[in-house]
Amino acid sequence: MITLGIETSCDETSAAIVADGTQVLSCIIASSKDAFEHAGGVIPEHAAREQIRSIHPVIDQALAEASVSPKDIDLIAVTRGPGLLGSLLVGTVTARTLATLWKKPLIGVHHTLGHLSSSWLDTNDEPQFPVLTLSASGGHTELWLRTDHLQGELLGSTRDDAAGEAFDKGASLLGLPYPGGPSISQAGQSGDPQAYPFPRPLHGEPTLDFSYSGLKTALKYLLRDLPDATSHTVNLAASYEYALCRHLADRIAHALDRHDAVQEVHVVGGVSANSRLRAMLTEQCAGRVVRFPTRLLYCTDNAAMIASAGTFLRNHIRQSRGFATAASLPAGAVFS
Ligand code: KG4
Ligand code: ZN
Repeated sequence: MITLGIETSCDETSAAIVADGTQVLSCIIASSKDAFEHAGGVIPEHAAREQIRSIHPVIDQALAEASVSPKDIDLIAVTRGPGLLGSLLVGTVTARTLATLWKKPLIGVHHTLGHLSSSWLDTNDEPQFPVLTLSASGGHTELWLRTDHLQGELLGSTRDDAAGEAFDKGASLLGLPYPGGPSISQAGQSGDPQAYPFPRPLHGEPTLDFSYSGLKTALKYLLRDLPDATSHTVNLAASYEYALCRHLADRIAHALDRHDAVQEVHVVGGVSANSRLRAMLTEQCAGRVVRFPTRLLYCTDNAAMIASAGTFLRNHIRQSRGFATAASLPAGAVFS
């Protein structure tokens, strides 16, 4: 079963060829991130224009690198949202056109379901359910209790900023470039993570939700009140990064206390690339299987995860209610 995945929800244009839902034959990503480095975030209209320029070369490259031709493809899977409207349109219109031209079935995939599928790309081990999955990116922060590939219960989500957004906004306050996750990690690499105290959001509250606005505000006031703040960037970045990661780790610890049947802990989304978070969770969840996407490019937006989720969805739809065709972008299953 060969799936062509297409992902264009934000500033990455990606196409991938995935066999049987997990084996990635190619995954090409063109990013317009650099253009937004000093803007502090994505400019939607600019991102959409870059999507138009990149989409066909990226798909051609994905096919060539996998040595696959259109006749070998069994399914096209495309991100149907959420995301920036202009960017999404480029992917969905391209996918519909190719599906019609090549006479292939087409399926729309919720972006979050794509991230949730990214933790077993390029692995042969089927996950042992129930799985606790933290999905943390620039647009969402969610904790899922999953009973199979497509079924799950949302245990908690952010009440304000997403975790990645907190990295991006913090970087902007510190005068570091976008995207904030990698630039804060790099700036704070040799810093002391305990140098500055940050609050523990929602500490002691019986909830599995997240909240990041207090940490961002704490950083803002630290910068305002610290004499010669720019000379303390290394320790400030390390302490802020530590506080953001600790909040994610606290919620996971809470969730595991409540759901002790959980077999595996998965962490996905752009923030799962963070090495401080990886080390913290691997230590905290010792005794359980902890998985992160096997390659850093599967953490941030990519089409391999969309192809993977699309394959599972197609199998589910086939079993339950017939086959999706190019004429309809089905709303997806459980996670819609
Ligand atoms: O999943 P993603 O590529 O796009 C969205 O769906 O938002 O995530 C992008 C987010 C950005 O906010 C970026 O700052 C964050 O992921 N990110 C990181 C790291 N790499 C990317 N956050 C923390 N540490 C990283 N190494
Ligand atoms: Zn994403």
